[in-house]
Amino acid sequence: MAKVFHSLITSIDVGTTKISVLIAQKTSDDTVEILGIGKSPSDGLDKGVVVDVARTVQSIKRAVKEAELMAGCSISEAYVGISGSHIHSFNTHGAVPIKRSQVLPSDIQAVLTVAQAVPIEEGQKVLHALPQYFMVDGKDRVVNPLGLHGVRLEAVVHVITGAVFSIQNLMKCCELAGVTVKDIVLEQLASAEGVLSPDERALGVGVLDIGGGTSDFAIYQQSSIRYTKVFPLAGNYFTKDLAVGLRATLHDAERFKREHGFVGYMQQEHDEELEIESVQGNSVHKVSKQQAGYILHARALELFMLLQDDIKRSSLASMMTAGLVITGGGSLLVGIDDLAKKMLGMPVRIGRPRVDCGFSEILNNPTHATGYGLLKYALRKDKQVGMNQMEGPMAQRVFTKMRSWVDKFF
Ligand SMILES: Nc1ncnc2c1ncn2[C@@H]1O[C@H](COP(=O)(O)OP(=O)(O)OP(=O)(O)O)[C@@H](O)[C@H]1O
Ligand SMILES: [Mg+2]
Repeated sequence: MAKVFHSLITSIDVGTTKISVLIAQKTSDDTVEILGIGKSPSDGLDKGVVVDVARTVQSIKRAVKEAELMAGCSISEAYVGISGSHIHSFNTHGAVPIKRSQVLPSDIQAVLTVAQAVPIEEGQKVLHALPQYFMVDGKDRVVNPLGLHGVRLEAVVHVITGAVFSIQNLMKCCELAGVTVKDIVLEQLASAEGVLSPDERALGVGVLDIGGGTSDFAIYQQSSIRYTKVFPLAGNYFTKDLAVGLRATLHDAERFKREHGFVGYMQQEHDEELEIESVQGNSVHKVSKQQAGYILHARALELFMLLQDDIKRSSLASMMTAGLVITGGGSLLVGIDDLAKKMLGMPVRIGRPRVDCGFSEILNNPTHATGYGLLKYALRKDKQVGMNQMEGPMAQRVFTKMRSWVDKFF
């Protein structure tokens, strides 16, 4: 007899190097039980953006099938992550009169609509509009102003936009793979759900998801999003540098990086010469581990310099009281956390999904930060009552609009 599942939630992390699918069953307001995991190499994306629809559809289909077989059920809809350098974000402000001297849900909707009514770059669409805080009559910042008395309501909102075509392409790939997109979520928001603790989010923390194609950054403070940015530099560039510097094939450079790569310097007596496949093929030559370490160190330095510049330029350091959490596959490079600590002068830790259900030995890996975080995001969204957080009716309207563009596209 076929198993009966209740409240299925599925996430699809459409990454530059892999597509991973998690099928879960909701067990309480805050917890899920993982039923199926599927993974397939991704070769239709570049820097987080779909560049080959047919290949991406095939990869999604494969990963979905694998997860479905393991779960013993089939899925029809999923939460999907999005990234890429087409993503932009900014903070905006709005104010409205409080109509009946006490803040009602309609006042909150009105102020969020006003705050969002700003010119957006041609070809971009709002992906998320996340309230940071509200003020009534210019007084203290509050997360939920519902029921407060006053005459004027203000809101500061973090708006995240993405290129219409990139969003359409991603949604189209999922739909062609037979999956309806339930919601599309900025990847670092999902990764943050997967790896940050509530205390870190409250005190102020940065999260950097170093993937294959992009490194996605976000800052949380007082449990609200403060800042987001996508850097077009991640693990694939480390591998390419290694391939060029060591005159090796990309495939072997990737293997070498994962097995022997590290960032920094080692004592000469610990250094070792190892074989690597030459780029011309059919031959191998010897390279030293330290030689690879220098090359990887240079790239990591560049990544953290970009981050450091951004933190300085936008005066973000004071918001990162609890430091930085690095996650994504790139964070597995040995020594990358120590370099980040030295360069940024703040505590740095590696973020692994805090999985309290089965399969923790598989999912407790930074490459699953986005996929597992998408499930947590879905739970949080389900739980949100009224509108004290963002993803209420307003975000739903935005998403419904996006769906209609995709429908037009077919
Ligand atoms: N043990 C390891 N040591 C070093 N790097 C690693 C290791 N394991 C994975 N990586 C790197 O992590 C990257 C892939 O990470 P991840 O799976 O998070 O990316 P993605 O989600 O596919 O890409 P993106 O998020 O950029 O679209 C690759 O560049 C890979 O080389
Ligand atoms: Mg990723």
